[in-house]
Amino acid sequence: MDNGRYSAFEDSDFESRIVSSGYSESEDSETELTLRPKTMDEYIGQDKVKENLKVYIDAAKQRGEVLDHVLLYGPPGLGKTTLAAIIAAEMGVNIRVTSGPAIEKQGDLAAILSGLGENDILFIDEIHRLNRSVEEILYPAMEDYALDIILGKGPSARSLRLQLGHFTLIGATTRAGQLSTPLRDRFGVVLKLELYTPQQLKEIVMRSAKLLSTEITEEGAMELASRSRGTPRIANRLLKRVRDFAQVKGSGTIDREIADYALGKLEIDRLGLDNIDRRMLKTIADSYDGGPVGLETLAATVGEEAVTIEDVYEPYLMQIGFLSRTPRGRCITRTACEHLGIDFPSKQDKKNRSGQQTFQFDDN
Ligand code: ADE
Repeated sequence: MDNGRYSAFEDSDFESRIVSSGYSESEDSETELTLRPKTMDEYIGQDKVKENLKVYIDAAKQRGEVLDHVLLYGPPGLGKTTLAAIIAAEMGVNIRVTSGPAIEKQGDLAAILSGLGENDILFIDEIHRLNRSVEEILYPAMEDYALDIILGKGPSARSLRLQLGHFTLIGATTRAGQLSTPLRDRFGVVLKLELYTPQQLKEIVMRSAKLLSTEITEEGAMELASRSRGTPRIANRLLKRVRDFAQVKGSGTIDREIADYALGKLEIDRLGLDNIDRRMLKTIADSYDGGPVGLETLAATVGEEAVTIEDVYEPYLMQIGFLSRTPRGRCITRTACEHLGIDFPSKQDKKNRSGQQTFQFDDN
């Protein structure tokens, strides 16, 4: 890593991480398209979200109106894009997919908006990364279906209002807290996607295996599911890798034994933790006596971006009770230490450390 920061994890970066929930264009796009559920009934899990969405979709259809703007938020890899495509299919409209960073100028967004058909859906992934000037175009578009164009500059500048067709904006973000209040307030429907349970992931794995024409046993699917960090994208990625092992080293069928063997080779433990998770937790235990350690300090020590730690690593570690967030920083839990086979730092260790220290970053 040549970002100039000390990294304890030279050999394992986020991009190449097999349990990364980030989307990898080359590897995932084709399979993701094949495996993606196309209807609400095919979509497994997120029951509360689905139930409410069905009501809003039916109501809009009965009234013959456009669906209100929808904000989907939650950790990466949980199916926000998939859900947006399903909403479009259920509404019987077209969807135009783009992302916050892809829309650089006001004109880019104006062109997209004016190209939408009546009642179409515009899906903006990573909507928290839209720049402010582009965001300002969105406000009148969302509220009045209007494009405000500024003609000229300075005192003689005039504003021209162009009427757009009705449309639904579906925004997706891993960090709802980073959206500006005016943007967040313009979404009529705000839905939080949760990490999946192992049981739900097992169903997803069974379904995906069928679509990939791969034999899998219930136990094999459960083994994969419980090691996929609550994330369908990871479950499907692991399924493909385990399928390779089953084909080359086994009978072709994914059973518990070959799944366990393959995941062992991938250095993914019983709970789905990989080397980075384990070393991050060990860093908190060993270098910071279990914490609290500030997010920025931790990020610098492990050589990852703070946002990556927050969005990608922490949700699962917190869900399984391995990490806690306190106002003074991150702490490892006793359960995590038991899992890692290390001693839970005692109060005395913490006292000794705070006695030695001159100051402690308290950044998040
Ligand atoms: N593949 C990825 N996510 C899925 C989901 N929620 N349901 C079914 N298949 C999926």
